[in-house]
Amino acid sequence: MPDDASTSQKASAATRFGEGFVMDAWYVAALSPDLKPGKMEHRELLAEPVLLGRTKAGAAYAIRDICPHRAAALSAGKVRTEANGGESIECPYHGWRFGTDGACTAIPSLTADSDLDISKVRVRRYPVVEQQGLVWIWMASDARFDGEPPEGPPVIPGVVGGKPKLVDHLDYDIHIDHAVLGLIDPAHGPYVHQQWWWRTTASQHEKTKRFAPSEAGFTMVRHEPSKNSKAYAILGGEPLTEITFRLPGLRWEHVTVGKKQVLALSAMTPINAGKTRMNQIMWSDHWAFTALYPIIRIAARAFLRQDGYIVGVQSQGLESNPPLMWVGDADQQARWYHQCKREWQASRAEGRAFVNPVKDSVLRWRT
Ligand code: FES
Ligand SMILES: [Fe+2]
Repeated sequence: MPDDASTSQKASAATRFGEGFVMDAWYVAALSPDLKPGKMEHRELLAEPVLLGRTKAGAAYAIRDICPHRAAALSAGKVRTEANGGESIECPYHGWRFGTDGACTAIPSLTADSDLDISKVRVRRYPVVEQQGLVWIWMASDARFDGEPPEGPPVIPGVVGGKPKLVDHLDYDIHIDHAVLGLIDPAHGPYVHQQWWWRTTASQHEKTKRFAPSEAGFTMVRHEPSKNSKAYAILGGEPLTEITFRLPGLRWEHVTVGKKQVLALSAMTPINAGKTRMNQIMWSDHWAFTALYPIIRIAARAFLRQDGYIVGVQSQGLESNPPLMWVGDADQQARWYHQCKREWQASRAEGRAFVNPVKDSVLRWRT
């Protein structure tokens, strides 16, 4: 790869890696079972206070969790059923009510002869789409955006169907840019994820992997997983795996063993500039997932915690805002992420289609 460490340092300083978010994009806000019918809750997403809820009829919705009157958190109020059967959120302070689309439906302190047009009072509404057991939220760069997004949320291919076999999440104390790098970084495995059933630092080999551009990201094309990863052995047969990264912070690994499949999705959503939620969801129709569920759950949790620990260690260092180095092919995916993010921002700002900066490549590293 052409970049050497010094040019990468310059590039990262100039474009402020680890700042800002990919906007005008869909993020995973919650997993479907998290939202109970007739209930709502507060979330912080991309440093925005968001009220996430689900109507009794089952529709997920999201509005800004700040009352436009005097800023009370609407999520501290209650869900009411209106005379017309619709639902509204009642502010806990003076009882103003808002529909799930953010439009004000009542200001109780007004007298009957008031000529104030309350429908002009609005709370920001965030577009929400629920599919594949995930609740996606569209985070627009323009806070006044109230239309429909130009595209739907990504459809994760190869979902095996039915309920996920494993769902977990962990909040990492780091900006999403660095959390994503941890997700797509091949070189930390032998150091951060040392355990007898996965691999040890002693068993490193040279790897050669083919990559291709894919929608808003890149894919490590289908290949046999490394022989030094014992975890694949429980699947038996001859597993083949394909790993895809897509903006803003999605990575999915699709493993096939004959006709059986495993799909592991990691979906990162910024809570704020210093905190990122990592959602992990796995689907499978492979017998091992039912038989070995308790073990797989513990193993997946161990991975999450190990990554959480190491980014905690890293975020202490990042507080001094040091220059960073991207060295060799092992860091090429980090460069691609950064290039994709910049191109995403540029394409949205210029109102044109995203032009994928990733080229077909073969990368080599030792892990
Ligand atoms: S602050 Fe919400 S109604 Fe007054
Ligand atoms: Fe990791």
